[in-house]
Amino acid sequence: MKTLTVELGERRYPIYIGHNLLDQPELLARHVDSRQVLIVSNETVAPLYLDRVAQAFAGRQLAQVILPDGEAYKTMDSAMHVFDELLRLKFSRGAHLIALGGGVIGDLAGFAAASYQRGVPFIQIPTTLLAQVDSSVGGKTAVNHPRGKNMIGAFYQPKCVIADMATLATLADRELSAGLAEVIKYGLIRDPEFFDWLEAHIESLLGRDPEALAHAVERSCRNKAEVVAADERETGERATLNLGHTFGHAVETGLGYGEVLHGEAVAIGTCQAADLSRRLGRLSDGDVGRIVTLFQRARLPVKPPPELDADAFLEHMAVDKKNVEGHLRLILLERIGRATLPMPVATEPLRQTLREYGRN
Ligand code: NAD
Ligand code: GLY
Repeated sequence: MKTLTVELGERRYPIYIGHNLLDQPELLARHVDSRQVLIVSNETVAPLYLDRVAQAFAGRQLAQVILPDGEAYKTMDSAMHVFDELLRLKFSRGAHLIALGGGVIGDLAGFAAASYQRGVPFIQIPTTLLAQVDSSVGGKTAVNHPRGKNMIGAFYQPKCVIADMATLATLADRELSAGLAEVIKYGLIRDPEFFDWLEAHIESLLGRDPEALAHAVERSCRNKAEVVAADERETGERATLNLGHTFGHAVETGLGYGEVLHGEAVAIGTCQAADLSRRLGRLSDGDVGRIVTLFQRARLPVKPPPELDADAFLEHMAVDKKNVEGHLRLILLERIGRATLPMPVATEPLRQTLREYGRN
C-alpha cells in the first residue's frame, strides 16, 4: 500500500492506494471515531462492495442509503434522501458518512456531509478510476442543477481516501477510459514526463496491467494533492484542473446528464481547448495532434455529438464557475505540460473552434 498526504495543515489527510484495501477493515475503522455511521452508495456498487465496508463497523449503529445509479441522480433530491435518513435515525454531529462509489456518489455524499448539521466527518472510498485519480481527492463536493453542472456545493475535505484498486476489476471498459481522460489531464496541465509515459503505456492501461494502473493512480493523486495543497479554494493553480471542463460541462448539461460520461465530456472539451489554444497561437499543431491522438488511443471521443451547435455551447458555457460577472474565461494550453490560468477569449476564434468541433 502507498500512502500520500494532502497537506492542508490541521485538515491534512491520507490517501491510501493499494490492492484489496477493503479486506483491511481496521484501516477504515481507525478513521471513524463515532458509533454512528452512514454508508452512501448506489444500486450498482453496493451489491459488489458494501458488505466488505460494513465489516469495519461491527457493533456500531450502521445505516445505508442506496441511490439509483447515474449522473442524473446527483441532485438535491438525492441529498434530501441522505438528510432524511440521518434525521430519521437522529444521527448527531459526530456521525460519519462513508461515500462508496464513483464520483457521483463521492460528490453527493460529500455535499451531504458538508451540509448536515453544518458539517459531519466523511470518508471517500472511490471505486472508479476517475474517482480514484481525481474526484475523491481535494474536497470539491456538489450536486447538479438542471441549468448547470456542480452548481450547488461546498469545499469540504474528507478525513481520508481509501482507493482500493482491486475494485477496478468490475469496472466497465467505457468507464475505465473515462477515468483515463482525467489521468491525461495531469500530464497536460503540469506533468509532461507523465504525458510521455502515458503515450508509451496507454495500451497497458487499457489492458488493466496492475503495475501500469498503480503508477497512473499514484502519479495522478500526487499531482492532485500538490495542486490542492497549494490552492485549496481555487484562487489560482487549482483552476487548471478544469482544463476542457467548461466545454465538457456544456456537453453534459446540453445533452442531459449521463448521456455522455463526465470523462468523455472532458476528453471532448480538452480537444476543443487545445484547438482554441492553437487558433490563438499558443499551442503548436504538433502538440494538438499528440493530444487528440492520445485521447483516441484511450478510446475516448474527441468531438461532441452533433446535437449541440455553437449557440447551444455558448449558452451552456455562460454558466460556469470560472466566469466573472458574465464574462467567459477559459483555461488554455501553452504546450503539453503547461496550462494557463482562466482567461477571457475573443469570441470569433472560440466560434471557429465550436464550428470545427460541432454542427455549424
Ligand atoms: P459514476 O460515479 O457515475 O461511476 C461510473 C459508473 O461506474 C456508474 O454506473 C457506477 O455505478 C459504476 N461503478 C462505480 N464503481 C464501480 C465498480 N467498482 N465496478 C463496477 N461499476 C462501478 O462516474 P465517475 O466517472 O466515477 O464520476 C463522475 C462524477 O465525478 C461527475 O459527476 C463529475 O462531475 C465528478 N467529478 C468530481 C470531481 C471533484 O473534484 N469533486 C472531479 C472530477 C469529476
Ligand atoms: N476536478 C477539479 C478540482 O478538483 O479542482
